[in-house]
Amino acid sequence: MNLTLLKNASQILTMCDSSLGIVSDSGILFNDKIIAIEKEEELESIVNSKYPDFPVAVLDAGGGVVMPGFVDSHTHLIFAGSRENEFRMRLEGKKYLEILEAGGGIISTVRATREASSELLLELGRRRLDTMLRYGTTTVEAKSGYGLDLETEIKILRVIKHLDEIHPADVIPTFMGAHAIPPEYRGRKEEYLNFLIKRVLPEVAEAGLAVFCDIFCEKGVFEVDETRHYLEKAAESGFMLKMHADEIHDLGGAVLAGELSAVSADHLGAVGDNGISALKESGTVATLLPTTLFYLMSRTYAPARKLLNEGVTVAIASDFNPGSSFGESMQMAVTAALLNMQMTPEEVLRAATRNGAKALRLEDRGELATGKLADMLILDAPNYLYFAHHFGVNQVKCTIKRGQQYWN
Ligand code: NIG
Ligand code: FE
Repeated sequence: MNLTLLKNASQILTMCDSSLGIVSDSGILFNDKIIAIEKEEELESIVNSKYPDFPVAVLDAGGGVVMPGFVDSHTHLIFAGSRENEFRMRLEGKKYLEILEAGGGIISTVRATREASSELLLELGRRRLDTMLRYGTTTVEAKSGYGLDLETEIKILRVIKHLDEIHPADVIPTFMGAHAIPPEYRGRKEEYLNFLIKRVLPEVAEAGLAVFCDIFCEKGVFEVDETRHYLEKAAESGFMLKMHADEIHDLGGAVLAGELSAVSADHLGAVGDNGISALKESGTVATLLPTTLFYLMSRTYAPARKLLNEGVTVAIASDFNPGSSFGESMQMAVTAALLNMQMTPEEVLRAATRNGAKALRLEDRGELATGKLADMLILDAPNYLYFAHHFGVNQVKCTIKRGQQYWN
């Protein structure tokens, strides 16, 4: 057992109360989990009485803030190819859904991903996770959805499983075969959904390759009734539910997420009052993706203030993907949320940690307390407001994942 005593933090953001649960003048004793957060003399006496024979490493936080690792609860981590040509089209005024309808967008990434070997996808995923870890993300949800056929969806999910095994970051798998309608099913959407229900869902469930099932509920993609039928089947197969809901149009996606007691409803750029009440009612987490709206050059953002005022739990995530949010950094998501969604710095930092964990139903992380995972960041910032204020550079000096130090 490796024991470490973290000292000299200016503020420890435990996230343990409705604000940030700030502790000062204290240190943290941890192995892979947190043993105690106490005054340094107190920690030294715990070491002397309980662990007299164990060597204790000292980690100096250098007067920086210590906070939980980011929990990025919404990413499309695994894909091949890139979409810089489409980026230029968007800069010239083409809309995201127009590009998708014309056979580009998600479908162009599907073509590249079908052709890619598992080895290539694994290597791409590994590099992306390295970047995420360096930028402070210690838990990453990863969706399939760039295969849209049995073989490639399974290939992606196996790569996700393999990455979770070999990479320090924890990777939580979501099956998202209902991400778009593949070219070979064009005009036969119902048949595609039936294929997913009859052939793919059972195989993914049987092999234990995903915890969550997600769908892109959007005008021209999967409508509300189709989504309801599909997610009911997914729930019967034992998956917990997530939804890309009311991203661009208010179709009643959030209302449906509430009705189905989904764990989270994500995007919500266009959610209306009924949707907000439904989320409140069901305790569904609203996962907002501010970098997506930033990257799509949107003038409007999800109504975070309204959601928070109604008492809905709000998480933020990166939505990392090759089209609408091509960036791995949760620090960028923090900045985009702060500057565009009228959330307080305290709300944003909770949304990126504690509430991200809630959006993944993970109780053991997202906050710093005895018994929780030692997933922590040392920031190059003297206080958390400074961290919120500074942008566009990596302010993580050290990522600690299950007690191991990276990038120190
Ligand atoms: O969450 N909205 C649908 N899916 C992704 C985008 C995927 C892509 O463009 O490749 C999203 O934004
Ligand atoms: Fe997404």
